[in-house]
Amino acid sequence: MPTTQPAADDRLREEVRLLGGMLGEVIRAEAGQDLYDRIEAVRQASVAYHRHPGARGSAELERLLTDLSLDQAVGLAHGFAVFSLLANVAEDRAGKRRARSQTAEGARPDTPEGALARLSAAGRTVEEARTLLSGALISPVLTAHPSEVRRKSVLDRIAAVSDLLDACDRDDLACAPDVLTAGLRRQTVILWATRLVRTTGLVVQDEIDTVVSFLERVFLKVAPEQLIDWRRRLGAPELAPFIRIGAWVGGDRDGNPNVDADALRAAFATPARAVLRHYLEAVNALGAELSLSGSLVRISPELRQLADASGDGSPHRADEPYRRALSQIYARLSATHSHLTGQTAPRPAPFAALAYDGPAAFRADLAVLQDSLIASHGQAFADDSLAHLIATVDVFGFHMATLDLRQNSDVHARIVGDLLRVAGVCPDYAALDEEARLDLLARELATPRPLFSPYAIYTAETLKERAILVAAAEALAQFGPDAIRTHIVSKTDAASDLLEVYLLLKEVGLYRHDDPAACPIQAAPLFETIDDLRAARPTLERLLAEPSALAVARVRGVQEVMIGYSDSNKDGSYLTSTWELHEASRALLDVTESVGVRLQLFHGRGGAVGRGGGSSFAGVLSQPTGTVAGRIRITEQGEVIANKYGEPDVARRNLDALTAGTLLASLTPPPDERLSAVHGATATALSLASMKAYRALVYETPGFVDYFRAATPIAEIAELKIGSRPTSRTASTAIEDLRAIPWVLSWSQSRVMLPGWFGFGSAVEGQDLKELRTMAADWPFFRTLLQNMEMIMAKADMTIARRYASLVPDQALAATIFGALQAEWDRTRDAVLAITGQTELLGGQPELDRLIRLRMPYVEPLNHVQIELIRRRRAGDDDPRVREGILLAINGVAAGLRNSG
Ligand code: PGA
Repeated sequence: MPTTQPAADDRLREEVRLLGGMLGEVIRAEAGQDLYDRIEAVRQASVAYHRHPGARGSAELERLLTDLSLDQAVGLAHGFAVFSLLANVAEDRAGKRRARSQTAEGARPDTPEGALARLSAAGRTVEEARTLLSGALISPVLTAHPSEVRRKSVLDRIAAVSDLLDACDRDDLACAPDVLTAGLRRQTVILWATRLVRTTGLVVQDEIDTVVSFLERVFLKVAPEQLIDWRRRLGAPELAPFIRIGAWVGGDRDGNPNVDADALRAAFATPARAVLRHYLEAVNALGAELSLSGSLVRISPELRQLADASGDGSPHRADEPYRRALSQIYARLSATHSHLTGQTAPRPAPFAALAYDGPAAFRADLAVLQDSLIASHGQAFADDSLAHLIATVDVFGFHMATLDLRQNSDVHARIVGDLLRVAGVCPDYAALDEEARLDLLARELATPRPLFSPYAIYTAETLKERAILVAAAEALAQFGPDAIRTHIVSKTDAASDLLEVYLLLKEVGLYRHDDPAACPIQAAPLFETIDDLRAARPTLERLLAEPSALAVARVRGVQEVMIGYSDSNKDGSYLTSTWELHEASRALLDVTESVGVRLQLFHGRGGAVGRGGGSSFAGVLSQPTGTVAGRIRITEQGEVIANKYGEPDVARRNLDALTAGTLLASLTPPPDERLSAVHGATATALSLASMKAYRALVYETPGFVDYFRAATPIAEIAELKIGSRPTSRTASTAIEDLRAIPWVLSWSQSRVMLPGWFGFGSAVEGQDLKELRTMAADWPFFRTLLQNMEMIMAKADMTIARRYASLVPDQALAATIFGALQAEWDRTRDAVLAITGQTELLGGQPELDRLIRLRMPYVEPLNHVQIELIRRRRAGDDDPRVREGILLAINGVAAGLRNSG
């Protein structure tokens, strides 16, 4: 809002100053005047340099940052890293204020009010929105993809600082100046004195605990509230939950040897404990509240029956049917807790009862209470805590989040090969061509005979994978069909990759030869290289020509397909990946439509632009026409989880934005089809040229891998201990085998941000500028791509990148490759400016521009320290403090850049 911007900016600056000032005081008191002075001098030099870039400013900064003692370097890195964390608090609060005021002004289409107003302006009715949402599935899927560098202890401190400032917005007593100062000082001291970097590695159980803590603390509250709100807005009290939270932790074993059957069991027991504890507490609270006496009110016969069947014999409650019914419900829940988690409930019931056989029975009991209350007392009980509890059960059941399974197609092929060989069916499955594989798999799927024998000998890999699938079958039996619905196959390039999954499911009794449609798990391809995306249409066609796969798709009315943003980017460049994902989505829709099922796209994306990051709302709206249609799944990973779902009100805003985006994309689709027809040929030409330029550099330039390994902190990132899985899928050093996350993170740290833009400049050369401008103005697909690219380019800094290049031992190589990077950077920047008609990057996004400018001066010193320490370490200095300083600096740069992983 241009009119309110200066005031909003002032407030942000004021808070940054307040928190920065407090940090300064703490540093002086805790670490001494000397470090304080040095940090302050560096800060001022960096701010001055960024305000007026020029050789003098940069020389001063360099002077201050060279020849640091180790203690000074580590202290400096720690100071700027903590500062970035605190600045994020102020920035997030400014974001919340902006969202609130824009919502109040009705200016945001990504809110329920905004979306419904847009729909109505487009002539769509509430009835249509209701119908769409009643068949919708909108699913953020929480994964443990390792790009979150902040420890939980750090996130908790940041939240505490944010809470203190929030209290001031409410004018709480806690905001009296001395109370606030004391509170902030305490939190800042703790934050300053908290190790920012992990010293021990994460294990899968840690990752499960993290996901469950978000589910428990945020989603349990927010998702039911959101459902109730949309039900009210749409006048649809029975609207089924359309938001479904998904999870990967404990089910995704692609390249993570640490995920086994026990991890999968823990991935169910841990959330079950959390959700049942929540239900037990809620039922207990209702019991305390609902003291209505049977002698004073009318109750329904069903409630009477429930109360009479209760094991609660207390004479005090003899005339209190609601309480007696709730005691019985509590006892059954308590038994359910023991049954599902193997542990007694924290506060066991005083009498025994049968466990519920599923959430439906629990919900039915709650509905008896609600119906009776409403029948006798009307609306007083329509929107109460019981209604909230029922909505919670609707959304979360006893399993809380639907867990996906994921494995790499190569692993499946080996296991199927092992099973077939040992059973004497086929001596060398790997040697078969695709048609022969499909034939063999179809034959096996049609026979009742299993392949596995408990008396035979298999590879450890086969036994491990089989044990995981056995545990999956147990979970389905215990938690019901929503516990696991999909098995994703990474690096799918053929239909046999998916039939292999059905065969493995058959081995554990989940797929039946005589009733394929009853298979509770659907095999879903993950297309993630450019070639595989281009071949997505024939691969899916071939798959759905198989009766087994078609039967599963038909019975659920949907075929899910996952598309991978990061690996396709690593394979072919940002522009190419974005366009090929778009084209594959359109092709996949044709295929599913031709067999009469719906397409459910699952977008595998991360926070960084090079991994598909950017606004989810804009992302959903830039999808090809018809591909959303009420169904979308999106991965939420790493730092994105805390940023988007760290607090209930922010989480609510993000869930609403996803819902609003889905509604608008489905009911008022932007004219993508028409624009793809008009500009598709140009987009294809751009994409081909971008990939050519990108691959020429990354895969065809001799020495590029050496440059990458020397001019980025890739080796040091592997030591960050931010995830339970290794950074490479294999032991090779090839870029192809490196996981996309460390690839992107390394380029962010060295401020090149290559995966976010490289190739665009070459692609645009020689194209008709007028058409490109029209594309940017009219076509959401192209506009979103450009905006994301501009944002990430504004965080790049080729001057800093050049300093990283000085780390390369072969300086001739460094000059060649850095020269190529710089040349493409210049081309790309010129191209973007020519298209946007601006003179600076982000010229059309002034708010974002201001935010980025505010923080970059604090990131730059961290880059300098990082480079200096990496130089020392590579020169043989093995002092553990050097390593610590590097990791701290990586941590701080990631915090400062925000969406870098
Ligand atoms: P993956 O994820 O390596 O687990 O396939 C890639 C990503 O999310 O960037």
